[in-house]
Amino acid sequence: MPYQRIVEEAARILTRGRLVAFPTETVYGLGARADRPEAVAKIFQAKNRPTFDPLIVHFPSFEAAEAWAKFDERAFLLARTFWPGPLTLVLPRIHDKHGPRIPDLVTAGLDTVGVRVPSQPLALALLNSVEFPVAAPSANLFGYVSPTTADHVRQGLGDRVDLVLDGGPCTVGVESTIVDLAGPVPRLLRPGGLPREAIEDALGQNLVWEGFRPPVTTEAPGMLESHYSPSVEVEVFEEISHLRARAAELDGQCVVLSASPFSGVPCREAVVLGEDAAMAVALFATLRRLDDPRTGRILALLPPPEGLGLAVRDRLYRAANSRVGRALQAGSA
Ligand code: TXA
Ligand code: MG
Repeated sequence: MPYQRIVEEAARILTRGRLVAFPTETVYGLGARADRPEAVAKIFQAKNRPTFDPLIVHFPSFEAAEAWAKFDERAFLLARTFWPGPLTLVLPRIHDKHGPRIPDLVTAGLDTVGVRVPSQPLALALLNSVEFPVAAPSANLFGYVSPTTADHVRQGLGDRVDLVLDGGPCTVGVESTIVDLAGPVPRLLRPGGLPREAIEDALGQNLVWEGFRPPVTTEAPGMLESHYSPSVEVEVFEEISHLRARAAELDGQCVVLSASPFSGVPCREAVVLGEDAAMAVALFATLRRLDDPRTGRILALLPPPEGLGLAVRDRLYRAANSRVGRALQAGSA
């Protein structure tokens, strides 16, 4: 089908309150119209996602977002600097005479909403074709690795989604960076596709961040450690010497992930992901490919916590918590 026709078809499906998976520059999203709780409910059902985990709402422009969330000067500055792009801002919801414009089901009852304008052309075409904002979490089953191709979406969600728009592989490869601007102090809720340093430079202020092992609370439920987990065990290492010792202990029954090549590690396969942005682009597709009993175990060398390295470290840490993840998932299903 020609580009314009498929976008129109997707817009019709969303308008009827059904689900469309679409590419963004970060990962594929599972979209529903954000202004209808009955449509949004289908997202939670399709993903087996607990409803205490709020959704990000997508807009075609800053101007469109302004009618649904309150932008202060800091929010305005970040939106102007980084949108469209891999940045989500958590802002106060706007209320009209009927109540909050973004329903409680989207925000998990919080009086704030995560808003974002993606840069992927197909996503923007879709968002420009509808009259409502689109709520979209990553288009994977809850707790599993996020999808970076249309095939990943189909493998995980199959016919639970009414249409999958295929925009090719995602160019950023990890989810958006989430910054909470609802309080007086700007907080980094999730490192992601926009480097923390770029945001701090623009704000002229450091972001407060709780680090890699924040408590599981309903205040920032996306920080659940259950995310990004393949079934194969993942172990993470700061030092190549420690990784090498572990690989030897496993008799090389493992696959090693690292940013740059190294030698002397017994393993079934050594995957060199590349530095920084290249590592982020390749990470999720690699975790999915290796999610196979023949892998044995994944040993990953953590990149330095700079640029996109921070998001890659975060996702690897969470993947390494897969057992915790599965327990949480079972508990919340
Ligand atoms: O790159 C991305 O952000 C992708 C694409 C599809 O846009 N979306 C994504 O959504 O990663 P999801 O649902 O997998 O992660 C959204 C996370 C939630 O888990 C939650 O932590 C946070 O965003 N979030 C959303 N609204 C929030 C709010 N009001 N307060 C705090 N955190 C919020
Ligand atoms: Mg997700």
